[in-house]
Amino acid sequence: MKALCWHGRGDIRCDTVPDPTIEDARDVILKVTACAICGSDLHLMDGQMPTMESGDILGHEFMGEVVDTGSAISTFKKGDRVVVPFNINCGECRMCRLGNWSCCLRSNRNGEMAAKMFGYPTAGLFGYAHITGGYAGGQAEYVRVPMADVAPMKVPEGMDDEHALFLTDILPTGWQAIDHCDLEGGEIVAIWGAGPVGLFAIKSAVIKGAGRIIAIDTVPERIALARQAGATDIIDFAKEDVMERIKEISSGQGADCVVDCVGMESVAGHGMFSVVSAIQEKLTSNQRPYALEQMIQAVRPCGIVSIPGVYAGPIPINMGALVQKGLTIKSGQTHVKRYLEPLAKLIQDGTIDPTFLITHRSTKLEDGPELYKTFRDKKDNCVKVVFHPN
Ligand SMILES: NC(=O)c1ccc[n+]([C@@H]2O[C@H](COP(=O)([O-])OP(=O)(O)OC[C@H]3O[C@@H](n4cnc5c(N)ncnc54)[C@H](O)[C@@H]3O)[C@@H](O)[C@H]2O)c1
Ligand SMILES: [Zn+2]
Ligand SMILES: [Zn+2]
Repeated sequence: MKALCWHGRGDIRCDTVPDPTIEDARDVILKVTACAICGSDLHLMDGQMPTMESGDILGHEFMGEVVDTGSAISTFKKGDRVVVPFNINCGECRMCRLGNWSCCLRSNRNGEMAAKMFGYPTAGLFGYAHITGGYAGGQAEYVRVPMADVAPMKVPEGMDDEHALFLTDILPTGWQAIDHCDLEGGEIVAIWGAGPVGLFAIKSAVIKGAGRIIAIDTVPERIALARQAGATDIIDFAKEDVMERIKEISSGQGADCVVDCVGMESVAGHGMFSVVSAIQEKLTSNQRPYALEQMIQAVRPCGIVSIPGVYAGPIPINMGALVQKGLTIKSGQTHVKRYLEPLAKLIQDGTIDPTFLITHRSTKLEDGPELYKTFRDKKDNCVKVVFHPN
């Protein structure tokens, strides 16, 4: 079969690889009908995430049709259409029982590697480096889904692929980011990054009753979508002083909640700092917490800092501001399974149309290497790439 594979920093290829087969009684094999490129894939492409190996199959946002099932699978049968959360869940460990699905203690085959870095293992993820289990991803014609009896969900009757696909990751991720803000209604929420995750965070903040939603980005087409999603105020971080503008919008009080939908590859704002950082970005693959640093400043005392943006290891942040202002940090890979059913309902009743951010579609995985670059470089107004490989 064809699959998009990682071969080093900036080197993604469409390879011909062996078809996956059932390896365990709890496996399902899917024929992939839709898959997407995520901002998290860019961290792999850019060499930010340790423990990738040449030939690894990418992709953690995918869905498809069941073509084979292991002997222990009774939840699905051949022909079922299934949407698959990006985290793999055993369903039995303490974290799974608590609903902390992205911290499943048993699904990561390389859990000891993660524990060395983070203190405890974290869940196995599809197509996301060996520290998260080294499972083959779904930017492919076929994919093996381990522990398929727990996390995956049958696509609701009448829902097409493009409406269901983002249940795998970016929609629940934007939603959880706002869930973490504990909104009661009327708060000022500032969201850094108007990529797919930021756009769904904006949409979620609207639904959950934020009073004012400030979107921060610099890419014109993303800013336009942020407005469309419901942002009430826009700050162009490349042209404006973000801190000053947030003060102005909040009558000097600061944002109640700040949300990091950028992650470790943030670009610096206007001024000299941006020149230095532009050079640094070209030369190294270091993590760059500029956006996070700004958020910690811009949030009001005793406010909430919600961080869905991905970081891969230690970074310098202003611990003083966290302590002195009494901030609450909430973060994490998304507990996707928690949100599947409620969000599927919001899609079905028309409250959320998740397709609004799709800008690029292809039926050929061979277009993948080029489309990865288009998405990374934000060329051709690219916001989200979806493949329909079968
Ligand atoms: N927690 C999770 O489970 C989870 C799931 C999916 C994605 N993510 C992470 O969420 C982040 C966003 O994902 P995405 O798909 O939207 O990515 P993306 O790369 O498409 O979007 C990031 C956006 O941030 C903007 N940006 C860069 N520097 C900025 C700055 N200093 N201030 C404000 N905006 C800035 C960029 O212009 C871009 O529009 C990534 O770090 C990704 O890894 C986390
Ligand atoms: Zn993702
Ligand atoms: Zn578990």
